Amino acid sequence: MNLKEQASPEHNGVGEEWTSRVQRLLQSNQVVVGDQRYTRPAPSVYEHQWLWDSCFQAITYRWFDPEMAAAELLSLLHHQVQEGAEAGMIPHMAYWRGGGESLWRSSHRSIITQPPLVGIAARLVYETTGNRGLLEQVYGPLEEFHAWFERRRDPDGDHLVSIIHPWESGWDASPRWDAPLGLVSPSPEESRQARITLVETLFQHHCRVEALERAGSFSVEALDFNAVRAADLEALSFIAHETGRPAEALAWAEQARLVQQAVQQKLIGSQPTDLAGAEETPLRHESASHFVALFGGCASPEQAEALIARIEALAPAVKYLVPTTPPWDPAFAPQSYWRGNVWISVNWLIYKGLQRYGSCGLAKEVVARSLALVDEHGFWEYFDPLTGKGCGSGLHSWSGLVLDMLKTA
Ligand code: GLC
Repeated sequence: MNLKEQASPEHNGVGEEWTSRVQRLLQSNQVVVGDQRYTRPAPSVYEHQWLWDSCFQAITYRWFDPEMAAAELLSLLHHQVQEGAEAGMIPHMAYWRGGGESLWRSSHRSIITQPPLVGIAARLVYETTGNRGLLEQVYGPLEEFHAWFERRRDPDGDHLVSIIHPWESGWDASPRWDAPLGLVSPSPEESRQARITLVETLFQHHCRVEALERAGSFSVEALDFNAVRAADLEALSFIAHETGRPAEALAWAEQARLVQQAVQQKLIGSQPTDLAGAEETPLRHESASHFVALFGGCASPEQAEALIARIEALAPAVKYLVPTTPPWDPAFAPQSYWRGNVWISVNWLIYKGLQRYGSCGLAKEVVARSLALVDEHGFWEYFDPLTGKGCGSGLHSWSGLVLDMLKTA
């Protein structure tokens, strides 16, 4: 049986086998602290909790452990900032057993965020499990989270929020961030050091976008981050509707539309880009982040056609889709962290985006190649798109997302 056939949900036998493989993976990564449970991204290297990882984990759990799917999302809200200028922020890392002190001056959490997928994940969990109570529990915290984005991260009021550290993008060492970090072809260590040093700058400027921009520090209106945010606002509108808040549902839908429009006009335009600093300097590095525009419903039909054509152009150039940096880019390094690898988390976003725009054949192709990759090489953190070699940590939880792809393709 070829993998395209396997990707169809009718093949229940195959689905069951994947379900038990993924179930074993996620169970082996579960962490219990008191009455809370979360799933670490991977053993040893990633023992703490990461924001977008837990959202992806919840989306995967919905197929075999509805309770854990909800618990995973609710545990994220535990460290949401409750007071002060950053009230509403959900941190990108929670240190349930402490350990954050040396980097973050707080033992339990970081001071930055990550792509907002909590609403998206809650909606998907609800749609599969019928857990309406979960929607009630996440609604208030999500309102606060999105209000925080507007209040703290969009000082120029253009409906695009800025990220202030590459870690917020989730794409830590991507060549996208070399220029805004002032780096030229950095070694992995130089790139890592720049990220660590930047934390000190964030403290100096109290994470204020305007102050960071004046200081020439990293501040980027990132295309994929804002597209994910648009999708999360749509999910929030759905949640408001389902929980009996029709006026709020309309207001969130309008916000989502404004973000989609801003991404479409300013970040996709005729050539996709991220925008750096108060001057909004285009960062025209070609990467798979552009395809995430589809996930957020941000592309016009013509823009979508062009983005889909770029994915099609990648298909014959690599064995496994979708490399984060294309192989024709001088910065392409297939086994170097975020510099050209395949990440199943990114593939999931692209796959859903292709489905959204009706490009179902290509969506299935992404699923088929993702399944083949994980089947042949295991649940690695990321992969070489040319050979499939697994890189980074093994037994990485978010590679279990292939199950969600299989179930929904
Ligand atoms: C790495 C990735 C980041 C992810 C984390 C845990 O730092 O760059 O996106 O959230 O690992 O998997």
